[in-house]
Amino acid sequence: MVQDPLRKDGSTMLLPDSKTVLVEHSNKKVYDLGDKIAKVFNANKPASDVFNEALNLARVAESGIRTPKPLEVSAVEGEGWALLTEKVPGVTLADRMSAEPSKFYEHLEQFVDLQVEIHGNRSPLLNRQRDKYARMINELPHINATTRYNLLERLDGMKKEFQICHGDFNPSNVIVAEDGQLYVCDWAHATQGSPAADAAMTYLLFALNDKQQADAYLELYCDRADVPMQVVRQWMSIVAAAELSRKRTDVNDEFLMSWIDVVDYMG
Ligand SMILES: Nc1ncnc2c1ncn2[C@@H]1O[C@H](COP(=O)(O)OP(=O)(O)O)[C@@H](O)[C@H]1O
Ligand SMILES: [Mg+2]
Repeated sequence: MVQDPLRKDGSTMLLPDSKTVLVEHSNKKVYDLGDKIAKVFNANKPASDVFNEALNLARVAESGIRTPKPLEVSAVEGEGWALLTEKVPGVTLADRMSAEPSKFYEHLEQFVDLQVEIHGNRSPLLNRQRDKYARMINELPHINATTRYNLLERLDGMKKEFQICHGDFNPSNVIVAEDGQLYVCDWAHATQGSPAADAAMTYLLFALNDKQQADAYLELYCDRADVPMQVVRQWMSIVAAAELSRKRTDVNDEFLMSWIDVVDYMG
């Protein structure tokens, strides 16, 4: 019996043999299927997380931000849930930055301008940043109740804003297409909220690898967005706590804890 190469039956999908692995993490693999990209999660990844990422992507794409087009969410034979998107042929801005270190600042300018442009958009049905961060802070078992209270109080005092925030905006999530246009992928953590919080997260992501790059980023972001650096800094303990609750294996917990401790000194 001849079968559709991608479908074994109506409910699961087979990936083509011609696929190549782009990225491999402990909990997911990203495959290049030629004209599509498949982000395939482990069997223990909740379906709701994968559908949420797909919904975020669809919402953000509809708001006019340049993203890979969402195609489908499918159960993959022998693995877990997968999110399929259109492939955007090109290289990431992270690849560009490491290939051309002398042009780091030029790439950083492109990166910051793109983030500021994203923050100019709204998507009223997107999850709320405040709810997401409060949930993440409450889920932190190794942070005591006093510090959690401090963090939640600080979160509550921040200005209420409703701009589209990527939530994991770093150069590996920006694809430079062959025509030079920039596309943003990986919207799993997207919310509507404060741009300064999003900038604080990007600062921490840079700082985990390179403090100098992080500082250059922060200065440029605050300048281009016309946001006071103090406001971004106020968010840092909150986003460090959120990042800590994601338990990413490649992220340094001690470093994040040192940012959370700032709360204790500053009240
Ligand atoms: N639609 C796409 N087109 C081209 N490359 C993509 C696409 N989606 C993801 N990639 C590549 O795969 C990498 C990992 O995908 P991403 O969604 O960022 O997953 P992760 O959670 O692993 O960061 C990206 O950094 C990018 O290089
Ligand atoms: Mg990514």
